[in-house]
Amino acid sequence: SVINRFTSVFDSKTAELLSHHQVGIKQSFPKEGWVEEDPKEILQSVYECMERTCEKLGQLNIDISNIKAVGVTNQRETTLVWDKETGEPLYNAIVWLDLRTQSTVERLINSTPGKNKNQLKTGLPISTYFSAVKLRWLMDNVEEVAEAVLTHRAMFGTVDSWLIWCLTGGKSGGVHVTDVTNASRTMLFNIHTLDWDPELCKYFDVPMEILPQVKSSSEIYGSMNSGSLAGVPISGCLGDQSAALVGQMCFQDGQAKNTYGTGCFLLRNTGIKGSVAIAGAVVRWLKDNLGIIQSSAEIEKLAGDVGSSYGCYFVPAFSGLYAPYWEPSARGIICGLTQFTNRSHLAFAALEAVCFQTREILEAMNQDYGVPLTQLQVDGGMTSNRLLMQLQADVLCIPVVKPSMSETTALGAAMAAGAAEGVGVWSLTPGNLTTIPTDKYQPLINPEGERTASDLDQ
Ligand SMILES: *[C@@H]1O[C@H](CO)[C@@H](O)[C@H](O)[C@H]1NC(C)=O
Ligand SMILES: *[C@@H]1O[C@H](CO)[C@@H](O)[C@H](O)[C@H]1NC(C)=O
Ligand SMILES: *[C@@H]1O[C@H](CO)[C@@H](O)[C@H](O)[C@H]1NC(C)=O
Repeated sequence: SVINRFTSVFDSKTAELLSHHQVGIKQSFPKEGWVEEDPKEILQSVYECMERTCEKLGQLNIDISNIKAVGVTNQRETTLVWDKETGEPLYNAIVWLDLRTQSTVERLINSTPGKNKNQLKTGLPISTYFSAVKLRWLMDNVEEVAEAVLTHRAMFGTVDSWLIWCLTGGKSGGVHVTDVTNASRTMLFNIHTLDWDPELCKYFDVPMEILPQVKSSSEIYGSMNSGSLAGVPISGCLGDQSAALVGQMCFQDGQAKNTYGTGCFLLRNTGIKGSVAIAGAVVRWLKDNLGIIQSSAEIEKLAGDVGSSYGCYFVPAFSGLYAPYWEPSARGIICGLTQFTNRSHLAFAALEAVCFQTREILEAMNQDYGVPLTQLQVDGGMTSNRLLMQLQADVLCIPVVKPSMSETTALGAAMAAGAAEGVGVWSLTPGNLTTIPTDKYQPLINPEGERTASDLDQ
């Protein structure tokens, strides 16, 4: 399985994408439910992307000394521990989807009064998803990590912290920081005080000295230490999903966006987030595990041939259910099969599953927030699937709006970097940047499930 990392450079006046480079890195699955990445490969991919992007700018006759700031965005909950003296990672990065901590999580929940999995201070349920339990696992199971913690040489971080530490000099003066969006996904962060919480650290038995310093998402953390961009400030750091919210310019209260990647990530401007573990991954599963499509793009044509699942339903809970259920022991199911069901129907049901999961989260958010969402902004690889986008509008009964530019996550990180004090090339306010053109999908069925006139006209 290959995960892409990329670097993008944007024009500071128009937010136009100037140059871009992408490198794939491997994910490994050493045991059932385990998902890991090599921290050095992650770092190498970032250096390579930055250098290639600079070369491409050179070919466009753009002087790289015009680059004002660097923003970082990445997966949030993915957990790393490294040695601050040698600069070496002490284990692979444990990726957010990894399930190895399921028994740790069950033990923690069972030891909580009333077996309550919700932790009010963090705003998160205890789950395999978040970093604290992954860190606990590393300290309990990896000798090098336990040893480094004991001898005060360990540093913990999510991917952003690892990258920023390395890019700002590593063992020779690298800064050990994270931003609030990342910290909020560790389960060690108090969302009311906006800092690490001593009680939570005690609960997970995590020494506070290994934690990065928590900064805002838009300020100068340090400068690039080497390479073509040496000296350029690193001043934006946002969780990938929060970055997409900024990149989609959801600055107004109540706006929301959904990113369709490996999973689905619905964020609303109020701080509420819902994650669906499996979205794009269901297409990959149909391709790699069932072999009913040769490429991910083929699913649109296959599902489009039938335009209905013929009563077949697919719940792709491969690694448990995330929001709004938080049930790690759930597993996938395909039901409603008949004699007529064929791979087209299965493909359609898989796309519908992505839409239904998004609807469940949106309904939970509407209930919490009190005001229903009137349109959903979307991004991510799967949004090029027009059938999926139309189905999503139909299932939600609200318009689905997709920016014509696909790099909204990278743009969000660049915007945070460019808005930092001391950089100041733009400001994070509505109307500061030209609006990005969009494609809009109107729902073709009404909330009662009837086809609307506009559909009959077609
Ligand atoms: C926070 O996490 C996101 C994604 O995980 C990352 O892109 C961002 O750079 C992080 N911020 C910091 C300061 O580490
Ligand atoms: C599946 O069955 C439908 C009829 O119910 C047919 O139109 C479609 O072509 C079939 N798909 C495949 C891949 O056989
Ligand atoms: C956007 O913000 C930047 C920095 O604050 C400012 O220089 C620029 O004039 C603003 N542009 C618009 C269109 O408001």
